[in-house]
Amino acid sequence: MRIGIIGLGFVGLSLASVLGAKNYRVMGFDSDRTKSSEIKNGNPPFYEPRLEDTMRLALRKGLTIEDNISPIIDNCKLIFITVGTPQRKDGSIDLSMVRSVIEQIGKLLKSTKNRPIIVVKSTIVPGTTVNTLLPILSKKSGKKVGKDSDVITNPEFLRESMAINDTINPHVVVLGGTKNSFMKSMERFYQKLHRGVPIIITNSQTAELIKYTNNSFLATKISFINQISNICQSIPGANVEDVAKTIGLDPRIGSLFLNAGPGYGGSCLPKDVKAIINFSNKIGVSPVLLDAVEAVNDYQLKNLVLTIKKALGKIRGKKITVLGLAFKADTDDIRDSVSIKLISLLLKNGAKITVHDPKAIDNTRMVFGNISYTLEGIL
Ligand SMILES: NC(=O)c1ccc[n+]([C@@H]2O[C@H](COP(=O)([O-])OP(=O)(O)OC[C@H]3O[C@@H](n4cnc5c(N)ncnc54)[C@H](O)[C@@H]3O)[C@@H](O)[C@H]2O)c1
Repeated sequence: MRIGIIGLGFVGLSLASVLGAKNYRVMGFDSDRTKSSEIKNGNPPFYEPRLEDTMRLALRKGLTIEDNISPIIDNCKLIFITVGTPQRKDGSIDLSMVRSVIEQIGKLLKSTKNRPIIVVKSTIVPGTTVNTLLPILSKKSGKKVGKDSDVITNPEFLRESMAINDTINPHVVVLGGTKNSFMKSMERFYQKLHRGVPIIITNSQTAELIKYTNNSFLATKISFINQISNICQSIPGANVEDVAKTIGLDPRIGSLFLNAGPGYGGSCLPKDVKAIINFSNKIGVSPVLLDAVEAVNDYQLKNLVLTIKKALGKIRGKKITVLGLAFKADTDDIRDSVSIKLISLLLKNGAKITVHDPKAIDNTRMVFGNISYTLEGIL
């Protein structure tokens, strides 16, 4: 069985590499030509632990990189869509990339005998598959979705910096759609790939909601401990680390995502919390708790700048070093990184900035020209 993967970013390239390295016959495609040729040449276009070796092994075994999607639509039984769903100004998701891929697949399905399962891994708000993707696909293909092909929602939970490990050993597989023969094939595929991992089969809107629920719960834990940290700061001698460590020992709470700090960032949590808030408002449910989670997160950064001002008297003309630029360790991804926002605010206040990060300096150079970079980390 051949597998197609459309969109070779963090999610798509990790999946393509893991499957290819396991001898699955994988055909990958990315519309970014520079990215595609880097991958073809064996160079991952971003840093991710274990990716380079896994990708190179995959290229020697089952992975090929295609120049267009036609061969994927003609030959692949499973076609994963792993393109981005970035945030728009109002917090909603920009669905244009997923839409465009579904339209192209639809047009090509018209003239093929292949009956593929289209598996959407991109994060999309509840109802998108049923209300938008299925109608586009059946209109463009002129075929009966559910009979000639089908769409299954399969949200991704991998963590950047652990993407290969998480792709090999996910904690769960979620499949959303109609319980038909396509769903049975999909279930069998994952049973074979991930023995013993729970597979949750539900409808597509529930699968879509599970992804947002997962990420907004993690964001809630972070804002919760940050709120407690702010309370601690006004109690002389109180220590938030002891509080977090202790409540983390309660099995009902768990120890992860309880580090007080400058707030959550990265390419997923801020975008997904904003999207579910926007979605919730649209369907007439006031998302009071999630609004508060965001408000606490926004306050953390402002509070950090206030704390720096308090410590230094004034920021103008002061030399300030920021260690860590990516949104977490072991990645070069600076999308929505709190450090990048902090640097912008400090520059606005007239600070002279020096930065270091073991992986993310090159990406940061594309954002700021007027700061100093040190590759050593020791100033
Ligand atoms: N990065 C993560 O940690 C993570 C985790 C879980 C879920 N997700 C979700 O998965 C999706 C992908 O995320 P990502 O971080 O891998 O994104 P990414 O931006 O790293 O990669 C997306 C890729 O899709 C390509 N692309 C865009 N339009 C295309 C088209 N028409 N045809 C072919 N390729 C196209 C882009 O060039 C890019 O390489 C998003 O919806 C995201 O929210 C991401």
